[in-house]
Amino acid sequence: MVDNSCGTFLFNFYIKRGIGMNKKIVPFTEKQIRDMIKQYPTPFHIYDEKAIVQNVRKLIKAFAWAPSFKEYFAVKATPNPYIMRVLQNEGVGADCSSLAELILCEKVGITGKDIVFSSNDTPKIEYQKAMEMGALINLDDISMIAYLEEMGPLPDAICVRYNPGPLLQEGNAIIGKPEEAKYGLTREQIFAAFQELQQKGVSHFGLHTMVVSNELNVSGLIHTAKMMFELAVEVKEKLSIAVDFIDFGGGIGLPYRPEESFVDYDELSAGIKRYFEEIMRPHGLDKVKLAFECGRAITGPYGYLVTTAIHHKHIWKEYIGVDACMANLMRPGMYGAYHHITVLGKETQPLDHVYDVTGSLCENCDKFAIDRALPKIDEGDILVIHDTGAHGHSMGFNYNGKLRSAELLWHEDGTVTCIRRAETVDDLFATLDFSQL
Ligand code: LLP
Repeated sequence: MVDNSCGTFLFNFYIKRGIGMNKKIVPFTEKQIRDMIKQYPTPFHIYDEKAIVQNVRKLIKAFAWAPSFKEYFAVKATPNPYIMRVLQNEGVGADCSSLAELILCEKVGITGKDIVFSSNDTPKIEYQKAMEMGALINLDDISMIAYLEEMGPLPDAICVRYNPGPLLQEGNAIIGKPEEAKYGLTREQIFAAFQELQQKGVSHFGLHTMVVSNELNVSGLIHTAKMMFELAVEVKEKLSIAVDFIDFGGGIGLPYRPEESFVDYDELSAGIKRYFEEIMRPHGLDKVKLAFECGRAITGPYGYLVTTAIHHKHIWKEYIGVDACMANLMRPGMYGAYHHITVLGKETQPLDHVYDVTGSLCENCDKFAIDRALPKIDEGDILVIHDTGAHGHSMGFNYNGKLRSAELLWHEDGTVTCIRRAETVDDLFATLDFSQL
């Protein structure tokens, strides 16, 4: 168990957790949350450790058939060392995209080939660190081969990221259509890159792609795997290179809305296995290691932003002002993303009021919900915003001088650990030197 200056304290809880379902059940009671608030004022994000562990075990179990299957948690989703440690204990690696994420791995003790470095537009210093740590580098462009060489001998194993462009008529709002997306190499470039890498002494090759984000359609995810298997076969046939590693990136979606369903890992795995047997095995590629770099699917549903209603405003519309703002969760403002809201203690009350739930930024998009049917909200009510366990706290920022919140980890034994304290105004001003005024 972790501990730090924020301290720990005990809760007993009896509420069944809705893992695998999508009932948008809050796994703690109002009393438990109000007790927490005495020590950790709202807003804060709280993560359910047991649910995260059960979920990642389920994913790994579903792919038990695949040779050396590995999940590399996308650190950008929830860059907190305590969450990373929980996942590390389950055999999960890390997908990093920046220097800071690599350093976090180093602090947690995730090193070497337990890291995939899937970056883009990468500064030298970041590649240097990735090479120093022995991470598997995933190149986002063919020109990165020469760039990497400037830093020393190429690693023995290199992965390249494929962008199928117009060859794949899919994609979605977050990543964009493949041909509009800035990531990866074209098909031709994949072959040229492998040839060049081979000539330069690289002997182990990986293929990576990520063409969708937040994808709930299992057949779309399976189709991506099929596309990658076909590419691996073509690489073998044309270049006599047998890739060692295929990484499907992240992108497994979340049912943010109650009417949506979770991606069924068993169904996903069975679909991928079918194509693996059909496409890879006949070409002697049945030892290829398969991997995902999921972030959202791993921690997303098991994080909650807890905030207090502080104002009610009645003008042309009804507004509930809360003490969290877009600095704590920018997905609704940035993508118009839906995040379910539960008003604690009012779970069974009729949803007979329609509100915009807002934060305090001087930005009209700082709204957690627009025209949302909710029970009558009174000042002091606690609102729980669901599915903030990934791309939640991590996307925070400080516009209007707003501070980023604490993160709490809720353990199976009922204890809570503050795994990141809330920012203070001093943190915000730490880069200013007022003495030079
Ligand atoms: N691997 C790579 C190379 C990525 O770029 C990403 C996410 C992931 C893995 C993890 O994807 P996930 O499984 O978490 O969807 N801020 C957006 C998501 C941006 C995704 C960026 N890349 C959001 O809040 O929806």
